[in-house]
Formats: sequence, C-alpha cells, structure tokens
Amino acid sequence: MAESPPLRRVGGVLHCGSHGLDELAQTHGTPLYVYCADRIMDRLETLREAFADLENGLRPAPAAGAARPDPAPGFLVAYSVKANPNLAVLELLARAGAGADIVSGGELYRARRAGVPAGRIVFTGVGKSRDELRQGIEAGIMSFHVESAQELDALGALAAGMGAVAPVAVRVNPDVHSPTHEFTSTGHANAKFGVSPDEAHALYRRVAEHRALRAVGVDVHIGSQIRDPAPFLRALGVVLRVENRARRELGVDLRYVDLGGGFGISDGAGGGLDVRALGGAVVARLRGRGLSLVLEPGRFLVGDAGVLIASVLYVKDSGGKTFVVTDAGMTELIRPSHYGGVHEVSLVREDGRAPVKRVDIVGPVCEQGDFLARDRRLPLPNPGALLCVHQAGAYGFAMASNYNSRPRPAEVLVRGDSVALARRREDYDDLVRGETDD
Ligand code: LLP
Repeated sequence: MAESPPLRRVGGVLHCGSHGLDELAQTHGTPLYVYCADRIMDRLETLREAFADLENGLRPAPAAGAARPDPAPGFLVAYSVKANPNLAVLELLARAGAGADIVSGGELYRARRAGVPAGRIVFTGVGKSRDELRQGIEAGIMSFHVESAQELDALGALAAGMGAVAPVAVRVNPDVHSPTHEFTSTGHANAKFGVSPDEAHALYRRVAEHRALRAVGVDVHIGSQIRDPAPFLRALGVVLRVENRARRELGVDLRYVDLGGGFGISDGAGGGLDVRALGGAVVARLRGRGLSLVLEPGRFLVGDAGVLIASVLYVKDSGGKTFVVTDAGMTELIRPSHYGGVHEVSLVREDGRAPVKRVDIVGPVCEQGDFLARDRRLPLPNPGALLCVHQAGAYGFAMASNYNSRPRPAEVLVRGDSVALARRREDYDDLVRGETDD
C-alpha cells in the first residue's frame, strides 16, 4: 500500500497536505521525519468519537477550583509521551485538551513545558526514582500509577514529608495475554509490570490507612500494537473486579479506570484495532458505575501520522539478494530490527517505469541487524531516489540513537500549508556535547 494515510500521491509524488515529500527532503535534507498534524488531530477525534457515549454516563468533572489533586474528567485521553515526545507534537495535543501519560521526570518536564496541565498527567512506570516521585508531587499531577508495595511506601513517606497528599492508582497485572511482540506484551503474570489483583487490594488497604495517600483510580496496560479488542476487555474485567472489591471491603471510592494504551494501527503486517468496537464494549461495561475513563494511547495518535524519508545511496546485488542501501537505518528507526516491526515502504516519486524487484532495504550502520525492511517488493530505485518509510511517527525518533556517531535527523511538523522545523538536524558538535577532551 503506497498511499496509507495520511499521505496522498499527487503527480506521482507522495504529499503530506499540500507539501510534497520531495520538496521537504530538498529543504531539510535526509534522513527526515515528517509528521502530519492534521492526521494526529483526526486520530484524537476518532478516539473521542469511539468513546463519546461516556461523557453522559460517567461522573462529570468537578467544578474548577476543586481541591487538588485535580479529579479526572469523564473521559481523558492521556497521550503516552514516550511514543513521540517532540514538544511540537505535545503542544498540538495539549492544545486539543489531551493529558499526558509519563514515565520519567524528563517526560514530566516535556509535558509541563508543552502546556499539559498537571491535573491531566498520570505517572506510570515500574522504576520511578524518589526524585521523580518528588517532582510529580510538587507539580500536583493527577495520579501516580503505583507498581509495587515499596514504591507505594516511598511515595507515602515523601508526600508526608512534604505535607502533601499523593493521588494513587494501583497498576494491576491482569494476567492477560495479548498477541503482540514479546517485548511489548506487558499484561501477563510474569511480566515486570503491575501487581496481582490480590496485591492491588492489599495496596488499596494501605492507601486507605495512610494520611498522605489517596486512592483515585485503578490502572492497567497490557501491551502495545494490539489489534484485537478481546484482551482489552478481559483486562477491563479484571480491574473492575479490583475496583468493586476495594469499594465493598474497604470503602474506597475510586474515580477512574485507566485502560492504558496499546491500540494497534494498520501497518505492513496487518490491520489496526477497531476502536469503535472497543469503545462500544467498554462504554457498555462502565455504564452506571460512576467511573471516569482514562486512556493512554501513543502509537494510535501519532504512529501513522509520521513517516521517515531516506535517500537511496547505493543498490547492489550480493549473494542472490538485492540490497537497497539508504542513509537511514536502525539508528533512525529501530523497530524493524528490534521488534520485527513491518513498516510499509514506498518510493516518494513513482513513475511506474522501474521494474519491481524483491529487495532488502538496509542502513549504513555496521550491524547485520541494521535493516528497515526485508524481502520487500519495490520498484527498483536509483541512487538519489527518496524512500518513504510509513507508520514511523511512534517510537521512531523517540528511540533514535547516535550509534556509529551518526547525528540524529531533523523532524518537521506539517500543519495545513505551514511546515515547522520541530527539531533541527544534529551536527558533530551535538555528538560530543558534554564530553571532555583535555
Ligand atoms: N501506557 C503505558 C504504561 C505504556 O507502557 C505504553 C507503551 C503506552 C501507554 C503506550 O502504548 P501505545 O499506545 O503507544 O502502544 N517501542 C515499542 C513500543 C513500546 C511501548 C511501551 N509502552 C515499539 O516500537 O513497538
């Protein structure tokens, strides 16, 4: 599929809005990340529509000026910053009313700088340091998604010492298997994430007895790039049982359920999750329970809104294979080699004349595992041709590295007719910044 959203082919050239990818590459060089703002906004809207019925059925957002921590609104999309933490992307989403799901002090810093209100920030992660917990308390975030008894104790002690009350949601490990890559499957019992339903109950008891902690929600996240609604619904069932038991046995009144992220998108390996079907089923289960819903999508919002443009350096035949060597590789996009990610790849300019061949598209990095795609049918490009690697808006630049002393690429955000340089290309000075050479 050479024209997966949000791109269109105009005169044989892939365009994001009114901008040809060839023109963007000419102006900004390659490798280059291009993000289409309109697509990000469309995806946010799609998600809100899929869960639209909630606003009526759920507990409304309390009046402005309510005591901190800010209570959750009826339905909150807390964008998972790790997917694409660029400030321009965060600002776009913050302006559209999204919150943030963060996993580090650095992400808290980014989210706050981009204008995400603290009352819409949830802090997840198995290993938050005490410093990071303190920063979250100081900022007055919506909730800490606690993943162990020791973390809960650390948070309680810190909050008490600061004269604060820390809002808590326990992250439950629902022991749900999700069909995705083993590295991105987080909801089975032997994953490092969350605590069992029984332990979650014990933690809510501890929260109830602690003067510096307050239970506000229950949280689960079962993995990433999941295309089937069923595991999400199984996980929801588990956390609703935890919520119900905490209310009945401990009198704990939770305000929200956080179902995490992980909503799969369409890529070279298959179709995306039907979020309408998931939304309908979740709404039906939540109806009448007085609980708000939080979601933490990353890839769903930004994944197919971003592409990576690479230039072809050389084409060579070797060992019965044809290799297309490009100026982008695992340093720019590690997903193909690390997670078996299958990104669609197409020529930026197609004239229908080149013979289609089966090729490996590889990068310049000195690793045999450095590839963008393998055994892919592609019109055979000449050196200098531009390739578009699709579905690269999530976990693309975010996971880029300087390995082989390669400066990281530029990022641009296209919005309507305007193109903003969201991050300039790194130079050699950037590579050695912070190092000492005397
Ligand atoms: N919430 C939590 C607690 C998470 O750990 C994650 C992702 C998300 C939300 C967002 O998941 P998403 O909606 O983007 O699937 N680097 C891997 C994906 C790692 C996901 C890590 N956690 C990849 O490139 O496939």
